[in-house]
Amino acid sequence: KRVGVLVSGSGTNLQALIDATQDPTRHIGAEIVLVISNKPNVEGLRRAERANIPTKVLVHNKYPNRAEFDRVLHNELVNAGVEIVCLAGFMRILTGEFTAKWKGRLLNVHPALLPLFKGVEAQRQALESGVRVSGCTVHFVEEDVDAGAIIVQESVPIEIGNLVETLVERIKTAEHTAFPRALQLVATGKSDDKVYSTIYEDKTK
Ligand code: GRF
Repeated sequence: KRVGVLVSGSGTNLQALIDATQDPTRHIGAEIVLVISNKPNVEGLRRAERANIPTKVLVHNKYPNRAEFDRVLHNELVNAGVEIVCLAGFMRILTGEFTAKWKGRLLNVHPALLPLFKGVEAQRQALESGVRVSGCTVHFVEEDVDAGAIIVQESVPIEIGNLVETLVERIKTAEHTAFPRALQLVATGKSDDKVYSTIYEDKTK
């Protein structure tokens, strides 16, 4: 399957996806054909360039509104023949119009065990809540932020006295195995997204 990855920053998850998809022994069933960033000069773009993957920068504030930006984004992905989109630290909320077009083919990674700790600073939220386990979630993207059916989760223990920075790093390491696994499930058709979306729709009734 042809994959497009959207980034806004350092792109360590992008790197994990590049490494996994370029390793023939892992049989991910996916190839990254385009990396798009909404910010210029970020490390994520350099990672793609080093791997000889085409890149594109779409600076969001050059567009009159969110809908227009998302339409351009959609067209770039379609023109590159992208079939699955991975959000790897992409710090823009996507419109319902966009998420509907990519339903069941749009994946995001969140640094907590959803449905707990949605939104920003999820690692800090987990730490401050006092839970002793957090982790990461790869899920299908729906219009509601950090909602959508879960594909893969990985847990990370929280030890007494852990700092936010420690947890951020340990969750990132978990993301780097969870995201390629989730992509593999979707790309090889093993993540029954019809069942998943039914679960999601039931929950929101
Ligand atoms: C990750 O922690 C992810 O959960 C969140 O953004 C971060 C991206 O990190 N959505 P990187 O750019 O992949 O290093």
